[in-house]
Amino acid sequence: MLFKQLFENESSTYTYLVSCQEKREAILIDPVLETLDRDIDIIKKLNLKLTYAVDTHIHADHVTSASALREILGCKVAGPANDNLKCRDINFKDSDNLIVGNTIKIKAIHTPGHTDAHFSYIINMGKKKILFSGDALLINTCGRTDFQSGSSKELYNTIKNIFYTMPDDTKVFPAHDYNKNNLTTIVRQKSENQLISGSIDLENFILKMKSLKLDRPKKIDIAVPRNMECGFIN
Ligand SMILES: [Fe+2]
Repeated sequence: MLFKQLFENESSTYTYLVSCQEKREAILIDPVLETLDRDIDIIKKLNLKLTYAVDTHIHADHVTSASALREILGCKVAGPANDNLKCRDINFKDSDNLIVGNTIKIKAIHTPGHTDAHFSYIINMGKKKILFSGDALLINTCGRTDFQSGSSKELYNTIKNIFYTMPDDTKVFPAHDYNKNNLTTIVRQKSENQLISGSIDLENFILKMKSLKLDRPKKIDIAVPRNMECGFIN
């Protein structure tokens, strides 16, 4: 498996390239329009065929490059079924699998809370797991729950009952980081996460989330409608 973590500065978004080296097929998770040219360059230089552009959710802070990638590279666009987007080719239901080439199976899991339809993706590598946690679990923090049908209670259940029951050494790759961290593990988040440690109860988590004073994302009025059309290109 070839794996690359790519970063977009303006929205501090991580995009992930995962490819099967046998068949040279690749996917991008959470690709960003601003870095479209860079991502196409990387795919071409590595002699890969992009088969899917996959989103974890309808982003509010940046526009996805999924439509543009489909137009230019002929990939399919995939994401959660509950987003109800007609522009997607593949609509995941909980526990669906996405096959990349002939060596990689990615499990799509429903992880609501940041948005009600939010999905995360898991790769099993023998006994070890890699988790692409989207905006649900971030490094030492978690995604906000104050818009887009977010729910602190649902996010608590997602993180505690799904993520924190995964093996301690599961590598966690989030969709964002604002402090130059690039990965974490489940065991570290259980002890170090400042919003949702392994020991916090639901009541205190809800209070913490309510006390966050977060700015409205600058691009929300552009990003959300555009992402509901898979980041359409003119
Ligand atoms: Fe988000």
